[in-house]
Amino acid sequence: MEKMKGSRDNVVDAIGGTPIVKLNFIGKDISSDIYVKLEYMNPGGSTKDRIGAYMLDQAVKEGTLKPGGTIIEGTSGNTGVGLAMWAAVHGYKCIFVLADKQSKEKIDNLRAFGAKVVVCPTNVAPEDPRSYYSVSKRLSETIPNSFYVNQYDNLHNRMTHYTWTAPEMYEQTSGDFDTFMATVGTGGTISGCGRYFKEKMKDVKIIGIDCEGSIVAHFAKTGEMGEAYSYVLEGVGEDFIPENYDFDNIDDWEVVGDKESFLMTRRLLKEEGIYAGGSAGAAICGALKYAKKLEKPEKILILLHDSGNRYASKIYNDDWMSDNGYLDSSFDVQIKDVLASLNKSKDLISITDQATIGEAITLMDKKGISQLPCIDKSGSIKGLVSEKLLLKPVMMGEFSKEDNISLAFNMNYKVVDQNDLLSNVADALLQKEVALVTDKGAIINILTDIDVLQYISKTRAY
Ligand SMILES: Cc1ncc(COP(=O)(O)O)c(C=O)c1O
Repeated sequence: MEKMKGSRDNVVDAIGGTPIVKLNFIGKDISSDIYVKLEYMNPGGSTKDRIGAYMLDQAVKEGTLKPGGTIIEGTSGNTGVGLAMWAAVHGYKCIFVLADKQSKEKIDNLRAFGAKVVVCPTNVAPEDPRSYYSVSKRLSETIPNSFYVNQYDNLHNRMTHYTWTAPEMYEQTSGDFDTFMATVGTGGTISGCGRYFKEKMKDVKIIGIDCEGSIVAHFAKTGEMGEAYSYVLEGVGEDFIPENYDFDNIDDWEVVGDKESFLMTRRLLKEEGIYAGGSAGAAICGALKYAKKLEKPEKILILLHDSGNRYASKIYNDDWMSDNGYLDSSFDVQIKDVLASLNKSKDLISITDQATIGEAITLMDKKGISQLPCIDKSGSIKGLVSEKLLLKPVMMGEFSKEDNISLAFNMNYKVVDQNDLLSNVADALLQKEVALVTDKGAIINILTDIDVLQYISKTRAY
């Protein structure tokens, strides 16, 4: 039967042709405009669908992948999906080797394609026999008729972007942009697109976005390897320099951190409706940093690599975000701002250490307060008198009105500086009665648990 009009032969043929859209809310405070290429609209959910298909087509052409063969790759998941999709359409088996920091969605997704998945520890050097680079290599040496794709050093990776992704963007925009930016991992995207755009557009700038903990940007700028440390962003950064890097076509770098990237990823969805992965947030953070330094406004084009689907249990999960310290809590605020927002007068009501218990009770009654700090001539705190702890001894006749106030002191308070964060005193407030707030050592105010409750109810839904 003749093929239905308008249909594609198979899902691999549906890769590419992803849209470029303008950001309308994020970046309102910069004069440059940001446009994003939504590579998550590829059928497998990422730009890696392209390299998966291209690298395997080339392997078949070159005879390195033979009929009935097994495709082996060390992949953070996206490339795995691209390869698995191609393998399903063309009838090949796959084994994927992943680092254990990868999200569960990515691992489950690859298994659902029928692939075998081997999970390796994240925090080992690439040359360590347990690393996912070493394990992939070893598997490809022992499994007969296997093909180790190696997206890091297989130069068809960057050729994919040189021959396909970049020409597509150039055609879509007619080259109407000043700067192209992308996060870097294997280096394929930035290097392939960078080379193509540089050949086509005399003045275009190519900016790589790396993450804190990776060595790539540091190496590009200094020629030194530097030291890698662990980070949580997936797909971005490396602890070695893959062959796909072509530093000659990358003009400059921005480096971003996990937290800002994750928060930006969530903003992309909330403010722009763009459901992308963490490296998209990283890319936008990098673009904003870059744009803020510009003298003249630019049109900035950014490739966003993958879909938010794979991060539902991480970046888009409030519990995961706050457990890992990525969500700013309402307790990350300075105490002086809490007091200001509650309109708490700066005139501290206190009593001297010469006063009597009767005077303290009269003062607390007159001012309608339940805690009264006692301060000596030099301004230092001697103790705290509180309504609650006064009641019983007064009722029992243990104290008389004329007794010195020091008899009624309790030490149930914590002294904090007005610049301290509320989060630092929250625990103390649970155990002690009040926090006495100081400015350069002098007591200026009192913060009670009721104040904190009022502050929370004023500033957030709970
Ligand atoms: C989510 C994500 N973002 C960014 C990148 C970086 O792209 P490239 O490897 O082409 O440098 C990758 C690559 O693994 C990725 O999976």
